[in-house]
Amino acid sequence: MFHKDGKAKDVSTPRICDFVWHDGEFIKWSEARVHVMSHVLHYGSSIFEGIRCYDTKSGPAIFRLKEHMRRFLNSAKIYRMDHSWTLDQLCAASVELVAKSGLNQCYIRPILFRSLDEERPAFGVNPFPNPLACYIGAWDWGKYLGDEAIEKGVDVCVSTWNRLTPNSMPAMAKSGANYMNSQLIKMEALLNGFAEGIALDDRGYVSEGSGENIFMVSGGIVLTPPLSSSILPGITRDSVIQICHELGITVKERSIQRAALYVADELFFSGTAAEITPIRSVDRITVGAGGRGEITERIQSAFFEITKGERKAPGDWLTYVKRARSSRPSENGYDEKGVSDVDHTVSQPAEPVLKYQAANATE
Ligand SMILES: Cc1ncc(COP(=O)(O)O)c(C=O)c1O
Repeated sequence: MFHKDGKAKDVSTPRICDFVWHDGEFIKWSEARVHVMSHVLHYGSSIFEGIRCYDTKSGPAIFRLKEHMRRFLNSAKIYRMDHSWTLDQLCAASVELVAKSGLNQCYIRPILFRSLDEERPAFGVNPFPNPLACYIGAWDWGKYLGDEAIEKGVDVCVSTWNRLTPNSMPAMAKSGANYMNSQLIKMEALLNGFAEGIALDDRGYVSEGSGENIFMVSGGIVLTPPLSSSILPGITRDSVIQICHELGITVKERSIQRAALYVADELFFSGTAAEITPIRSVDRITVGAGGRGEITERIQSAFFEITKGERKAPGDWLTYVKRARSSRPSENGYDEKGVSDVDHTVSQPAEPVLKYQAANATE
């Protein structure tokens, strides 16, 4: 499945939303363009999100929309991106985009970046003179690490590349520039015949995959690296922690040594794109029995049942697109720019765990 040159496309039959939300308006996919001299292209000045919308019996439902948009706003704040979008406006725009897409399930990609004022351009590193642009696109994205991966697991390696150090590039912010580090990890893994790479932090402890958080099961206990191991505070990671609480499985945030990966009973990745993907080997050493472990399967089943709306989530994790739109107070709830200030029934976030995550970042 993973070709040695890594050139296989990750969207084989792309179903892409015809519209892109741009600064409050819906434009055509073909018109969503930037100038080649845009600041973002040269200096990596973007922050973004990745959100999944699932097909449920009650129509498309966006998973933990509010929490994703909150992280989006936090990333913008860290990079001093002084925009005027509110949480509710961004959530409403995403709901509307999914409705307009006609897709039952999709991946939603909000992005905010430093653009170019073509009349009065600025070319230096200083980002402040450049205008900001905000877009949200959507497409149908299959299983990120391959169709079989969810059941059979993936073969991964420990990368020779380290994750970002906390005071060089903040891993807490989901910035485009961070993904140059992810690309080094991913390319090395693919070229060596692995599906993914796991990066260590600057102290040599396990950090995360190029686009996923990692969990380890050892002696019936679920362990995951803390935020101080230079990880992105994953929304799926938070969901796994809460699901473990519900299932009565002990879960702890702990620094994890590389060697502990080799002797773990089970390992799995968590992420919006990767969802819950078991890891069956690391550096060609078989993990546990070499497939999806029992605890991983329990957590994975609960996760997928929740995303399908078939099991009660620990919080209001699903924003049902139809319900969110019909609960709008005004005629259509959106002004002429496609922006709504309607509080459209998105879930209450799992504050305790997310707050705990933020506190841990200072550990
Ligand atoms: C580097 C990295 N770590 C972790 C994750 C998982 O985060 P989430 O579960 O919020 O998608 C992602 C995906 O967004 C990622 O790119």
